[in-house]
Formats: sequence, structure tokens, C-alpha cells
Amino acid sequence: TSQGIEIIPVAGALGAELKGIRLSADLKGEELETIRKAILEHKVVFFRDQHHLDDAGQEAFASLLGEPVAHPTVHVKQGTDYLLELNSQYGGGANSWHTDVTFVDAYPKASILRSVVIPPAGGDTVWANTATAYQNLPAELRSLVDQLWALHSNDYDYAARHQKELTEKDPQRYQDGGFVSTVYETEHPLVRVHPETGERTLLLGHFVKKILGLSAVDSAQLFSLLQNHITRLENTVRWRWTIGDVAIWDNRATQHYAISDYGKQHRIVRRVTLDGDVPVSIDG
Ligand code: SIN
Repeated sequence: TSQGIEIIPVAGALGAELKGIRLSADLKGEELETIRKAILEHKVVFFRDQHHLDDAGQEAFASLLGEPVAHPTVHVKQGTDYLLELNSQYGGGANSWHTDVTFVDAYPKASILRSVVIPPAGGDTVWANTATAYQNLPAELRSLVDQLWALHSNDYDYAARHQKELTEKDPQRYQDGGFVSTVYETEHPLVRVHPETGERTLLLGHFVKKILGLSAVDSAQLFSLLQNHITRLENTVRWRWTIGDVAIWDNRATQHYAISDYGKQHRIVRRVTLDGDVPVSIDG
């Protein structure tokens, strides 16, 4: 582009690396516009070598793209306003396919993840495109899922498991009560109309407890059929982290999975999520 920004697709279905951008709260309007558009088009975008970013810098940059929101049940990292730290020393890795925080009504529209400690090999993250997943369903299945809704709950929230372990290991640090075990439940349509692109996306992931109106068995089977369809390798992009990388994803059009293949090695990533809106079904 004219600002010397290069956009290089990383895989066929989604994902692009943006080169020539230094992420900060001082980004120019044009650069910000390029990033916004790339997020909508590529669904997840990657930036290498953002070593200058610290926690405050990540939060300040994130707030240019939307309104940061803290995780509903997990403490923010000390000294920050919104940062969720995922630290492998406290277990609870996100190695299950999900969209972030879908157990609340207006779940985040985007997440901004920065790598702080990364093992020499392993610990990659994989994203899947939930818009192409919908488009590629046969028409008969599309008309079935168009009508369905699901119950989402944080019963299995990896971030909360992580917080619980942290609290148990370091009670001093969380004297104000630590882990907040609030259970959230909400219902979302299986097919969400994207508020910015108008694309239809499949809205599922591991916070789904049940597809409404089906028996437990049918619900589980339809859920796995759709999840398998969303996450087949052709519909994904995999990122090999180096320290100082930033990934930003459209949380309304993706699922992701953090691969847990690095044993006891250390991995720390820090996430800011941006406020989203309540999903709208195809019936409005
Ligand atoms: C997340 O699920 O937001 C974390 C992904 C990761 O640890 O790579």
C-alpha cells in the first residue's frame, strides 16, 4: 500500500501477516484503517517483532480498535486494566476449539493477543474461519442450522480453570476473593449475521452446552458434525509464534485452538478483548 504496509496471506482460508507496521497508540488514521479492513477481510492478522509493546502499550493500542473489556470471571493481570494473562505454569491451556467468551450475550468482537514467553518449538495457535464454514455447508444443512439456537455456558472455561489454579497456588495474591465462580449462560443463534460484513457465520465452539430443541444425543452429534466441518484443516491457519508477535482476530468470524504440545515448557500470552454486540440471527 501507499504507507509501505505489506499484507501477506498466510493460508488459503484465512490469516494474513501485516508487515511494515509498528503497533502503538500513535498509529496514523490510514494505518489503523488498513488494519481494521485486514481484520474483517482476513479474520486473523499477525504482526511480528512488536517487542516495543508492553502491557500498557498493548492496552492503549487495543483501545484504538474498540472498547477493551475485562474477562467476566478472571482477574486482570496485576497493574493492568483489561489484560488476561494465560501462563502455562498455571495450566488451563486453551486447547479446545472456541470463540472467546461466547457465554455472555454481547461477547467480544475481537481479541488482541501478544506473545511474551514462547517455547522453542510447540505452542502454536490455530484459527478457523466460521464464515467459509457456513458458506461451504450444503444448502440442506444451511437451512437446518439457520433455524437453530444453542445454549452457551462458561462451565468449561479454560481461563477460569486457570484462575482457580492461580488462586490456589498463590492465595496471598488474591486476598480479595480471587476466582469468581459466577456461572454465565446465554442463548445464541447457530448462524450469526456479521454486523460489519453482513456475512453469515457459524457460532459454536466449546462453550456450547446444548443445541436447543434437540435431544442430548442429537445435539452432541450435530455439534460434532458442525465443529468438524468448521475445523477441518483446509479451513484453518496455524501460527508459529515468536516472542513479540501480536495476533488480532475477528471473534465474530473465527474459532481458535492453542496447541498444547510443549510439555512443562513455559508459555505466556496476554490478551485484550474488545467489547462486542449481541449476535443477530438471519431473522433479524
Ligand atoms: C486464547 O484462547 O485466547 C488463547 C490462545 C493462545 O493461548 O494461543
